[in-house]
Amino acid sequence: MSGLIQPHGGTLVNRVLEGAARDAAIKEAEGLPSITLSAKQSCDVEMIGIGAFSPLTGFMGKADFDSVISGIKLADGNIWPIPITLSVDKADAPAVGSKVALKAPNGVLQAIMTIEEVYDHDRAAEATIFFNGAEDDGQHPGAEAVKAEGDTCLAGPIDVVTVCVDPDGPEAFLDHRLTPAQTRAAFEAKGWKTVSAFQTRNPIHRAHEYLCKCAQEITDGLLIHPLVGETKPGDIPADVRMNCYHTLIKDYFVDATTMLSVMPAAMRYAGPREAILHAVVRKNYGVTHFIVGRDHAGVGSYYGTYDAQNIFDELDEANLAIEPLKFEHAAFSKKAQGMVSGKTFPKLEGDQIFLSGTKVREMLGNGERPPGEFTRPEVADILIEWATSK
Ligand code: ADX
Repeated sequence: MSGLIQPHGGTLVNRVLEGAARDAAIKEAEGLPSITLSAKQSCDVEMIGIGAFSPLTGFMGKADFDSVISGIKLADGNIWPIPITLSVDKADAPAVGSKVALKAPNGVLQAIMTIEEVYDHDRAAEATIFFNGAEDDGQHPGAEAVKAEGDTCLAGPIDVVTVCVDPDGPEAFLDHRLTPAQTRAAFEAKGWKTVSAFQTRNPIHRAHEYLCKCAQEITDGLLIHPLVGETKPGDIPADVRMNCYHTLIKDYFVDATTMLSVMPAAMRYAGPREAILHAVVRKNYGVTHFIVGRDHAGVGSYYGTYDAQNIFDELDEANLAIEPLKFEHAAFSKKAQGMVSGKTFPKLEGDQIFLSGTKVREMLGNGERPPGEFTRPEVADILIEWATSK
């Protein structure tokens, strides 16, 4: 038995078919009705298949759906913050006991699903997870996406035929698309017993880099683990970000304590609830410490700066097992000549360099480098090239 952290629920799920079983499934799929998945559903199929969503073996049934929304737990008591659903329009719902072929948005056969349950999709209830009790203003990208989904959920286990559905596409990163079993093997080979993970959907700027390096000081190794599944329009494409990560790691990180791999999940922008999902998933990848900074997985101003940290205080620590590494808002201080937070340096008027996302995008689009205190010049150059070539 390895010394690594146990997967969530105790067993690392593997729903990926290989060899003769895979060949048989491909043949069987020819005779099955098919469902074309949305980008988010397709990401979820991959996450379930490779065990990143352990203990899930398929899409959730009604008992899990209700328990997750009301209590941040699966029906079996394991912590789980966000429903993982496959919804369709009622008229397209297959019968309980039947099988369906799940096709990726590009038409590739991704999995076969056995339908164990069909239930009404309470989209209004699901949308509440994005608001933490606050009022729904009809603008939240995650909540609006849920409201636009099908009115009927299909539940049951999946067997995955194709893990990466677009292996030649710009977002495949096959050399860095490690499954949880593969990251676990890599950590063991490196002798890392404690591993921190950094989730991001952005290029790594100086504040991100500071968090990563603080984590490196206290754990054996750091997994830089960018999310490369579906993101909202306006977010920087994953292939551009990967160029930034490679360049930054080469010049500013130490190989022996740094690893880069991608996570094929879709972003939900669910703030605190998504921070929990991100942590639980990293536990499955073998990570022991998970970085949660300012407004993690937030969008607009729906969440308080530290809501995504505070929510961890309500969870059963033993079941969570992975430790959240909570960081205050960090920025470069001109007086300290380095990265600081409210915990490490006094707040002085006009001392810290803050740039809004809008301001940074504007500068990049004009071919202007944001200051080196905000982002490393090598990263800025990649972003300028992208922003000015659009
Ligand atoms: S996220 O959607 O993946 O959370 P982002 O890529 O911006 O977005 O953030 C990655 C991680 O860095 C998150 O944990 C976030 O809270 C943290 N973070 C981003 N900017 C800062 C900052 N200036 N200070 C502290 N933490 C930050």
